Amino acid sequence: MKTILITGGAGFIGSHLIRLFVNKYPNYKIINLDKLTYAGNLANLTDIENAPNYEFVKRDIVDGDFIQRLFEKNTIDGVIHLAAESHVDRSISNPMEFIQTNIVGTVNLLNAAKHGWKDKIEGKLFYHISTDEVYGSLGDTGFFTETTAYDPHSPYSASKASSDHLVRSYHDTFGLPIVISNCSNNYGGYQFPEKLIPLFIHNIKNNKPLPVYGKGENVRDWLYVEDHTAAIDLIFHKGKKGETYNIGGNNEWTNIDLIRVICKTMDKKLDRKEGSSEQLITFVKDRAGHDMRYAIDSSKLQNELNWKPSLQFEEGIEKTINWYLENEDWLNNVTSGDYLKYYKEQYSENRY
Ligand code: NAD
Ligand code: DAU
Repeated sequence: MKTILITGGAGFIGSHLIRLFVNKYPNYKIINLDKLTYAGNLANLTDIENAPNYEFVKRDIVDGDFIQRLFEKNTIDGVIHLAAESHVDRSISNPMEFIQTNIVGTVNLLNAAKHGWKDKIEGKLFYHISTDEVYGSLGDTGFFTETTAYDPHSPYSASKASSDHLVRSYHDTFGLPIVISNCSNNYGGYQFPEKLIPLFIHNIKNNKPLPVYGKGENVRDWLYVEDHTAAIDLIFHKGKKGETYNIGGNNEWTNIDLIRVICKTMDKKLDRKEGSSEQLITFVKDRAGHDMRYAIDSSKLQNELNWKPSLQFEEGIEKTINWYLENEDWLNNVTSGDYLKYYKEQYSENRY
């Protein structure tokens, strides 16, 4: 029986990954280590919480002593590290949390793995989950490849870039077996409604304004979350140690076009007059340092590991909208309390 430590498993992507691994690999013991910040939610995992091969540990990766002890008490064979502060807007208003979790937390895990694995490194793997935002912003053409130079612009992407460099440095300096993947924007169920797609679904449902940053011309490459977790599964089991893999949907949308698709679909689902959701679109002050375009070249992953996205965007967005409409309680629970305070501050006129 192998023991796999997954960090950040109560968050959006992490909960999809935990579900996949717990169900697909009954011979793995999965430890989910999560601090349960505002973005972590055990309600994301109720279907597998009693599985015999699953254990939840509520701790902070910034607590280095605890992480060391966790490695001493358990024979951990692999780490898949997703725990992070993940929202760009929050990194602009509160960068320090990002430095602590994304950089210091990652180094704590690297140190614990290096120490814990020193006598038996064979078969071990430290898999770091990263983002395409480390590469910066593209012009109208071109794609990010695994060799594109890092050029992060937000405290979030700079902290992720820093963690990527540290992970590689532990491979090059100490021989730690690592692999890194950098993925584009994910969408799907269980995403905290601070991110564009669930936020706009929630606002349309409640007839609230849709705050589009700048002119809505920025471009993102959207990937259905289960296609990301399928790629993580492949890379974890078949990826080459020391390598980086880019993961993307080959699915670019300007924000405004994407928002129009959400509006049209919501009008139909909610039985509202065609065009009524679009009237909620409100152009607001742009995000500071807003990257214009992301687009991933995932041909290395496609050619070497035979991965490709399984869902067309039209199918994925329909599935996603249905999920948020069918999981009203989940959405209501995460949009009360602190969320209201965050929303008021983030979308006030004098933000930044
Ligand atoms: P998320 O914000 O939904 O979840 C993050 C999880 O990490 C939460 O459960 C939170 O409680 C936990 N966490 C935060 N700080 C912690 C700490 N100090 N100790 C322990 N746990 C902590 O994030 P997500 O969107 O699921 O992203 C997961 C990972 O994937 C991140 O590393 C992110 O950078 C990366 N990523 C995300 C996307 C995307 O589109 N969402 C795309 C590419 C890469
Ligand atoms: O590219 C991968 C990254 O995608 C991940 O690393 C991040 O963790 C994840 O949050 C996401 O970052 P983005 O900044 O691209 O995602 P977000 O959903 O915040 O914004 C998507 C686009 O929509 C972006 O151009 C900003 C714009 N936007 C966002 C919000 C929340 C708006 O116009 N209005 C909004 O209210």
